[in-house]
Amino acid sequence: MVLWFTGLSGSGKSTIALALEKELLKRGYYTKLLDGDNIRTGLSSNVDFTIEGRTESIRRVAEVAKLFVENGTVTLCSFISPTNDIRKTAREIIGDKDFVEIYVNTSLETCEARDVKGLYKKAKAGEIKNFTGINAPYEEPINPNVIIKGDGDLEVSVNQLMTIFN
Ligand code: ADX
Repeated sequence: MVLWFTGLSGSGKSTIALALEKELLKRGYYTKLLDGDNIRTGLSSNVDFTIEGRTESIRRVAEVAKLFVENGTVTLCSFISPTNDIRKTAREIIGDKDFVEIYVNTSLETCEARDVKGLYKKAKAGEIKNFTGINAPYEEPINPNVIIKGDGDLEVSVNQLMTIFN
């Protein structure tokens, strides 16, 4: 299956996905984590952060994730994927039965305060266009399979997600 993490930049998606991946490996699952770090530098290095660019990037990611799933790999996808349409595209490519949507719900204020990569500061200064939450939209998922409190305890979040596998 694909575990699809959506949420703002800095919401904690990849941190939670990585911690979950460790737990899954212990249980003997094959896993693969796809996120901005390994996709935006390669496969999607030639697309931007407009809605069109993001849609194309997510289309590519979903096609790749589908290939991993066909190979029996639990595939963790960690992408802002900011609109319902974009997430619907991913769900349609991967197939409803294999798609678990996980909303990492962290407030914009918290993400801005963390500002791990310093990008919120730059976006607010007008140095980055189309930055999610600042000058580009983030639509909250309408009916996600799981909602994770992004400012909660990491272990609690991992345990919450492991119930999918029990
Ligand atoms: S998505 O919207 O297309 O799903 P994706 O998850 O691949 O986005 O990439 C998000 C990461 O790219 C952010 O965490 C941030 O580090 C970086 N980034 C660079 N420019 C932007 C931007 N304009 N909006 C959001 N994130 C950006």
